[in-house]
Amino acid sequence: MIKRLGYERDIDGIQYLLQLMKLEGISCNEDLFVIVINAYRRVGLAEQALKTFYRIGEFGCKPSVKIYNHVLDALLSENKFQMITGIYNNMKRDGIELNVYTYNMLLKALCKNNRVDAARKLLAEMSYKGCIPDAVSYTTVVSSMCRLGKVEEARELSMRIKSFVPVYNALINGFCREHKMEEVFGLFNEMAVEGIDPNVITYSTVINTLSVMGNVELALAMLAKMFSRGCSPNVHTFTSLMKGYFLGGRFCEALDLWNRMIQEGSEPNIVAYNTLIHGLCSYGKMVEAVSVSQKMERNGVFPNETTYSTLIDGFAKAGNLVGASEIWNKMITNGCLPNVVVYTCMVDVLCRNSMFNHAHRLIENMANGNCPPNTITFNTFIKGLCCRGKIEWAMTVLNQMGQYGCAPNATTYNELLDGLFNAKRTREALQIVGEMEEMEIKSNLVTYNTILSGFCHAGMFKGALQIVGKMLVGGAKPDSITYNTVIYAYCTQGDVKTAIQLVDRLSNKGEGYPDVFTYTSLLWGACNWIGVDEAIVYLDKMINEGICPNRATWNALVRGLFSKLGHLGPIHIVDDILANGKVT
Ligand SMILES: *[C@@H]1O[C@H](CO)[C@@H](O)[C@H](O)[C@H]1NC(C)=O
Ligand SMILES: *[C@@H]1O[C@H](CO)[C@@H](O)[C@H](O)[C@H]1NC(C)=O
Repeated sequence: MIKRLGYERDIDGIQYLLQLMKLEGISCNEDLFVIVINAYRRVGLAEQALKTFYRIGEFGCKPSVKIYNHVLDALLSENKFQMITGIYNNMKRDGIELNVYTYNMLLKALCKNNRVDAARKLLAEMSYKGCIPDAVSYTTVVSSMCRLGKVEEARELSMRIKSFVPVYNALINGFCREHKMEEVFGLFNEMAVEGIDPNVITYSTVINTLSVMGNVELALAMLAKMFSRGCSPNVHTFTSLMKGYFLGGRFCEALDLWNRMIQEGSEPNIVAYNTLIHGLCSYGKMVEAVSVSQKMERNGVFPNETTYSTLIDGFAKAGNLVGASEIWNKMITNGCLPNVVVYTCMVDVLCRNSMFNHAHRLIENMANGNCPPNTITFNTFIKGLCCRGKIEWAMTVLNQMGQYGCAPNATTYNELLDGLFNAKRTREALQIVGEMEEMEIKSNLVTYNTILSGFCHAGMFKGALQIVGKMLVGGAKPDSITYNTVIYAYCTQGDVKTAIQLVDRLSNKGEGYPDVFTYTSLLWGACNWIGVDEAIVYLDKMINEGICPNRATWNALVRGLFSKLGHLGPIHIVDDILANGKVT
């Protein structure tokens, strides 16, 4: 009866029966007590379980290691760390011999509270007391060390023990989080040497990391290896690969993979559905994304806040306020409270529809409700304002951030700088740069590139070159945007020769540089300052390098050709043709 009541979560009933047993002098055995403690655990009343445990003698039962373990488990499930320590001391005092389950629970408690050093000590004590640590003991400690970024140390610990797959998995996961793939493959080799087979978790972890890193090809090779070792992929494996395809711009293959997963009988879980929805949204396929969210509900997987925020973000990016609002309403109807991410997406979509007053009011609602805005919310608002040239308003918002407990960071200032430069308000932009320095906010690559391009467009070529110098001194590595801005600037100055030299110097590095933008600048510069024949040389060169000219490239060239022929008149006709995409 107590067991049944436990399943029914009827704690009063259990207490009544226990009392009755006591009155009638029926003693309670170990198993019954375990059932009682688990019933408390199930309803989240660990402290109550502990109180009952202290009265164990009244029910004619003696505390055993098994009962202790269940009490510990109940306390651990609510992370009542202090009480766990107390129980441990009690056990020692009562001379109860701890078994491997006890130790594992104590290890988990320590690790959950980030006390890995104490956990390692306990691990040592365990061996010393003759209780051999098992896979769970080691995995608990190793994965907790990895979580705290002590992967190398965890690796050392693991080398001194008999290895288990879960321990390897924890280590591989640790190295994957740091994208140290060489170490990961090293561990794979080590497993092979030791004759330990990686399991589906091992493979999926690596496939997921490779996918996130944009290396779908290698992820697929991993999948092949997995098949060849007779290990079947699961939902997690498929989902990771699908994410990789989406990220790599391989939309159709992502959908094929989803269909294949369904055909193979894998039941998609919430993570799989959310990944699919995210992928569809990132390609602007909002109708499909919404239909997947309805389908998942029909299949008994209920959309959660991630699902809703992904959909709202998708609609926001498309500037579709109606779509975003519908999802918002649906989310509320389904009892899911909007979080700061969802609110921020709504701020975004309102800004994209120029409804700045609404956006402002929404932020105030957030601050008055239980969901205070964060830096990202304000960055979104400021970006929206700057995009529509509402710079004054954006500046006001910047100054108000502090009242909401949010600090502006480099991203905030980058948005403002971009807005100011676009509005040709160079002087104020420079003031902002000064303010950043005062506040000790470090400029990042985007900051430098924004200033650089701002200077170039304002014709401040010398200043632009100084920025590049400052950037190199400041330790920000220039990227292709930096280079292209400089090359474009040289070309506008008529110094095409220097631009060409710079491109030659940079192209030896072989990092996807020069690209279509570089060549378009060169072509345009050559047409304007040297001659169309020189421009054609660069057209050939880019095509030979496998870089496909885009509309702007052809535009520059056609303009060059027309001006050479002296037929300035028909240029708008060419523009029309190009705009309709008929020439390419
Ligand atoms: C919602 O689903 C995602 C998986 O996409 C998961 O990471 C997240 O923890 C879930 N959120 C909640 C509140 O359960
Ligand atoms: C600014 O803060 C937001 C939120 O904390 C963060 O996402 C963003 O990466 C930060 N930007 C920079 C440049 O650190």
